[in-house]
Amino acid sequence: MVGVHSGQSFHGSPDSRTPDAVRLDAVYKAFVPARRRRSAGPVLALEDVTFTARPGEFISLVGPSGCGKSTVLNLIAGLVRPSDGNVTYQGAAVDGVNTKVGYITQDDNLLPWRSVLRNVEFGLELRGVPKAERRARAREFIELVGLGGFEDHYPHELSGGMRKRAGIVRTLAYDSGVVLMDEPFGPLDAQTRVILQDELLRLWDRQRPAVLFVTHDLVEAITLSDRIITFTGRPGTIKQEYEVGLARPRDVFHIHELPRFKELYDALWDDIRVEIARAGTTS
Ligand SMILES: Nc1ncnc2c1ncn2[C@@H]1O[C@H](COP(=O)(O)OP(=O)(O)OP(=O)(O)O)[C@@H](O)[C@H]1O
Ligand SMILES: [Mg+2]
Repeated sequence: MVGVHSGQSFHGSPDSRTPDAVRLDAVYKAFVPARRRRSAGPVLALEDVTFTARPGEFISLVGPSGCGKSTVLNLIAGLVRPSDGNVTYQGAAVDGVNTKVGYITQDDNLLPWRSVLRNVEFGLELRGVPKAERRARAREFIELVGLGGFEDHYPHELSGGMRKRAGIVRTLAYDSGVVLMDEPFGPLDAQTRVILQDELLRLWDRQRPAVLFVTHDLVEAITLSDRIITFTGRPGTIKQEYEVGLARPRDVFHIHELPRFKELYDALWDDIRVEIARAGTTS
């Protein structure tokens, strides 16, 4: 399926010249502790991790706490370097901070001194999009997630769900080919989560970037993804890959009633339960 050509990675179909959105090839990551704790020795966070994200593919990464999920995203964003192996982004090696990727980190990372409108404009500003165009684009995205009327509010004046919405549209307005999302709905209540999942799928469908989505929630992973990759406890290695195989567009409110959903949920839970138990005894 995956061919390597002139140091670049390409996937097989439909166009064999289209580079993979992201590729990790035999990646290891060891973190060396600060000097005063050096006696503790390096922490091996990731071990021999290889996977590919195709353009437009929605992938969830699932695994116990500390298995290296955020580290995978940080490697793709170029914020950390692999200790061994290669990371490529749209066919080119990641060898510095990757400014092309959209990244929603584990915190909502809105700039507190900027209004909602100016937060959403931020990425477009960095890209040099002219003011009138970026303002119109930001307003369009703000409307799409029901934040119209809150353009001039500051992050501290918003609810948790509103902040998440603003963070998501800020990243999607940027229109990158790949979006990294690290537990973007983590602290939200169950109802708001489902509504945001629905909104996210609608937004994603407009531009279809590849998405690497980290979550601890198996229902969320199945609901959103084309493929789910499970990790072992630290050092994180890939345990299993699952093709979700549920049609799109998806009805996030009723998807759990489908037989395929239940089958996948049971398989994932069997897989992950062992790793969580193991991680609980070692971390
Ligand atoms: N910058 C760093 N310096 C030192 N160690 C780090 C650093 N980043 C991560 N680690 C270590 O690497 C391991 C993996 O961390 P990571 O944050 O990737 O896990 P995670 O799967 O995202 O966990 P969680 O589900 O709790 O967010 C952990 O043991 C962590 O302490
Ligand atoms: Mg994490």
